[in-house]
Amino acid sequence: MINFKLIKRFFPGKNIKNIGFSKDIEGIYTRFLNEGNNWTEHLENTKKSILISSQNKNKDLCVVLGSGWWLDIPVQELSQMFKRLVLVDIVHPSQIKHKAQKYSNIELIEIEITGIGNKIFNVDSSSSLNDLIVSTSIAKDFNLSFYNDIDYLVSANLLSQLTVFFEKYLNQKKRFSLSEVNNFAKLIQQNHLDSLPKGKSCLIADYFEKFYDNNNQILHQGKRIYVDLPEKGNKNEWIWKFDLKGNYKFGKKVYFDVKFLDV
Ligand SMILES: C[S@@+](CC[C@H](N)C(=O)[O-])C[C@H]1O[C@@H](n2cnc3c(N)ncnc32)[C@H](O)[C@@H]1O
Repeated sequence: MINFKLIKRFFPGKNIKNIGFSKDIEGIYTRFLNEGNNWTEHLENTKKSILISSQNKNKDLCVVLGSGWWLDIPVQELSQMFKRLVLVDIVHPSQIKHKAQKYSNIELIEIEITGIGNKIFNVDSSSSLNDLIVSTSIAKDFNLSFYNDIDYLVSANLLSQLTVFFEKYLNQKKRFSLSEVNNFAKLIQQNHLDSLPKGKSCLIADYFEKFYDNNNQILHQGKRIYVDLPEKGNKNEWIWKFDLKGNYKFGKKVYFDVKFLDV
């Protein structure tokens, strides 16, 4: 039986909660409330796809990475389907901790998923990029062997968020060039993809963004992730009406292309 408490030793994560993750989680819920029905299709598509993909998996242990507010996770159904349901995030909102108590087979784990956060937020003038790359590789090996014992692993709208605070912090530190930071972020994202156990995982990723003005003229479009998503296993695609109220990018309507992949 996997003891998830153990991985806290490897990814202590404590001092990184203040870096912006908690505020980010609050922001997700506020936007969800502001956008109302605009999010419904995205949330329902994610939940439906997770459930379809879960059908042919063994039913002992399901782990969801990036569970947040459970907005896009069919928690009730997964908890009935699997013996154990482990929900992982950097921080679980107190309302979610309260809600989880109603389920006898749900465990909430707070960890920094990549395993490299602590190293990044302790970067100093003597740190080399190579140190970070070596640590990333160690964290990847750990994730790889650890995830292998899971029957169904869900990476839930997490990939584009995984490196946001890391990049911001490293760019502020000005220890490395912009392209070094971008390449490092790419490596972390690629490691996340590579460590999802094959045949037992699914990935939902908002991978492309489009901004429009109020006359629906396109203002910007571009990738939200550094890596290429695998073509194989592509099951479903849709558009997430992420922010039509102009709060995320002032005065702009923001849409994300989302892919669901069986990995
Ligand atoms: C866009 S949200 C996904 C939506 C979420 N399933 C929900 O319903 O609220 C991404 C989630 O990933 C978490 N996250 C981002 N980077 C993380 C990291 N490095 N380690 C752990 N969790 C992370 C965030 O805290 C957030 O809850």
